Amino acid sequence: MPLRIAILASGSGSNAQAFIDKIRQGILDAEIALILSDRADAYVLERARQASIAAHLLKPKDYPCREDHDLALCAILNDAGVEAVVLAGYMRLLSATMFRAFPKPILNIHPALLPSFPGAHGARDALAYGVKISGCSVHFVEEKMDAGPLIIQAALPVLPDDDAQCLLERIHPLEHRIYPQAVQWLAQGRLECRGRKVRLKPSPNMRLAQPRPDCLIEPPLEDGF
Ligand code: GRF
Repeated sequence: MPLRIAILASGSGSNAQAFIDKIRQGILDAEIALILSDRADAYVLERARQASIAAHLLKPKDYPCREDHDLALCAILNDAGVEAVVLAGYMRLLSATMFRAFPKPILNIHPALLPSFPGAHGARDALAYGVKISGCSVHFVEEKMDAGPLIIQAALPVLPDDDAQCLLERIHPLEHRIYPQAVQWLAQGRLECRGRKVRLKPSPNMRLAQPRPDCLIEPPLEDGF
């Protein structure tokens, strides 16, 4: 049975599109039960409609407090039988209420090598610091922002003339590979969490994808990703 996921996003949704594409190609063993945004103008909602996926708009200002909003969100997720949540540029912090009312895996992607440069501007902050290597990280979500156990990271060089936009343009294609891969491992039941450490259980039939010379990905991607 495919893993039933919900994607939560506030923006363009290029990561959501990567999930839609990988599922269509038969590479990712998941189904997208719904795509939800907190912003009416988020292009990710249009992507959902184009892919005939249920699109939900949940505006925080329609709720008296964060807890009420998060309870409404969990009701949507639970009613749809969602088994895991994929945060893809969802620009809201989840409350403790959310973790209680939806006690299932929640994953996030961040455009920097965590634990460095958490927050809303990971790539920009890494550049401003002067790092020579940056990348992206997929992790389990805990209440503290960008702090849960790491599942996979991809690293690439920062070039001398990079601005945040150019760096993000090189990070994004990596995100589109490592994030669906992380969810595939989750769907296969191969992620084992021990404290902060996430172990990937080996699978005898899996072949590794061809590594690329310009980036380092750990654990390595498997065929199709
Ligand atoms: C990505 O860079 C992700 O790392 C961050 O938000 C961005 C979302 O991009 N959390 P998109 O909307 O998926 O294009």
